[in-house]
Amino acid sequence: MSTQLNNLLDNLYGRAQQATETGLQLQQSLLLEWTRCLPGFTARGPSVSDRYGQLQEAWSRSVLSTARAQRELLDQQFDLAINSLDFLVGAGVESSEPVAEAEAPASTAAQPVAEKSPPLAGGEKAKPVPSPPEREVAPELPVGAARNIYQKVAVVTGAASGIGAAVARDLAERGARAVMLVDRSEGVEDLAKTINEEVGREVAVAKVGDTTDEGFRKRVFNDADESYGMVTIVVPAAGITRDALSVRIDKETGKAQIYPAETFRQVTEVNLLAPIYWGIEMVARIAEDRKRRGLKRWEPAETIQGVVVFLGSVSSQGNKGQISYAVAKAGLEGAAATLTKEAIFHGVRCGIIHPGFTDTPMARALGQDFLDKHVLPYTQLRRLIRPEEIADAICFMISNSAVSGELWCDAGWHPPA
Ligand SMILES: NC(=O)c1ccc[n+]([C@@H]2O[C@H](COP(=O)([O-])OP(=O)(O)OC[C@H]3O[C@@H](n4cnc5c(N)ncnc54)[C@H](O)[C@@H]3O)[C@@H](O)[C@H]2O)c1
Repeated sequence: MSTQLNNLLDNLYGRAQQATETGLQLQQSLLLEWTRCLPGFTARGPSVSDRYGQLQEAWSRSVLSTARAQRELLDQQFDLAINSLDFLVGAGVESSEPVAEAEAPASTAAQPVAEKSPPLAGGEKAKPVPSPPEREVAPELPVGAARNIYQKVAVVTGAASGIGAAVARDLAERGARAVMLVDRSEGVEDLAKTINEEVGREVAVAKVGDTTDEGFRKRVFNDADESYGMVTIVVPAAGITRDALSVRIDKETGKAQIYPAETFRQVTEVNLLAPIYWGIEMVARIAEDRKRRGLKRWEPAETIQGVVVFLGSVSSQGNKGQISYAVAKAGLEGAAATLTKEAIFHGVRCGIIHPGFTDTPMARALGQDFLDKHVLPYTQLRRLIRPEEIADAICFMISNSAVSGELWCDAGWHPPA
């Protein structure tokens, strides 16, 4: 029996003990079950893939009957156990060798291991196997699923149209457990049905309301939490434009017309404050949950706890006629930069994407003439970006934890001064 299988068993046993301390009975029994199963890999019984399947099935059943507050922890434990399992399978541990007595625990995972090892059956014959990597090992994912998305619960605002709709669909296709499609338009209900038909499971959930309404925001998070588990992805994409020059001279009177302050407030309320608060709402809930579980500063081996991706715009660099919109989008850069620094304490990543002109009702409202004269000539691709391209980039930002900061997704936008 290899040293690292013993170490893994130690580790799982340690986790099971910790689970008892925190009162997570179900998790404890599941981990103990794993502890019992693993020696079977090396000795006799079903093949690794059969066992793997059984464990996965047991896990799915358990998750369904587990209280909401326990699900996230269970998910993490599952990931870690599967990581270890994957490693063993990769290292060729599946053999007919008997299992030796446990040796000293090693650092195969982040949590401290328990003092005692479970009793193990078998003889002494050892087979040299390389040491397990001392870093976080990503779990195997089903085909088409994406890391940080698979089995996660997401909230997408502005989901009835354009970029929001494309992101919601993409998250569902990449294996999210549930996606809340938030929009003030009831069109979101039909879209949720369509997505569910397309992906063949009930993943999309429509939530009709105004993103600037705090009560509505809290209800969406509460509903998601109660029905599907903690929200760990937020893409606040709802946005509006109210374009006009900041100062315009009335030809007849010669008087200056100033961009209305009320309109400015409306644009910043929807495009700046609301997205920030939808992001912060998730961070707050993750932080509270961690506090409840006695967790302090996030540690890398816990894996990422949540991701926020804001929708900026190339207009954040300044765009004629978009004083309020440009201010809101530039403001989101500051929000993303600040939240990035604050929220990682709780394990939450934050980023902002800056789309160029994308083929959605928002960009089409500019009119074909405007697009032909003022947009396409200054876009290297000489076409509008497809919403699916922005969605793909957003999913990349979510699933690749090494990505941070800002991503410009502008098809080569290089406007004249
Ligand atoms: N289309 C582009 O060229 C482009 C470029 C850069 C950035 N963006 C940004 O991407 C995001 C999505 O834009 P889009 O082009 O898909 O726009 P869109 O107009 O197609 O969709 C926006 C959606 O937001 C919803 N919405 C607006 N205000 C809301 C509110 N208060 N509450 C709930 N829902 C609300 C609308 O009903 C609509 O369904 C926006 O933040 C936008 O600023 C778009």
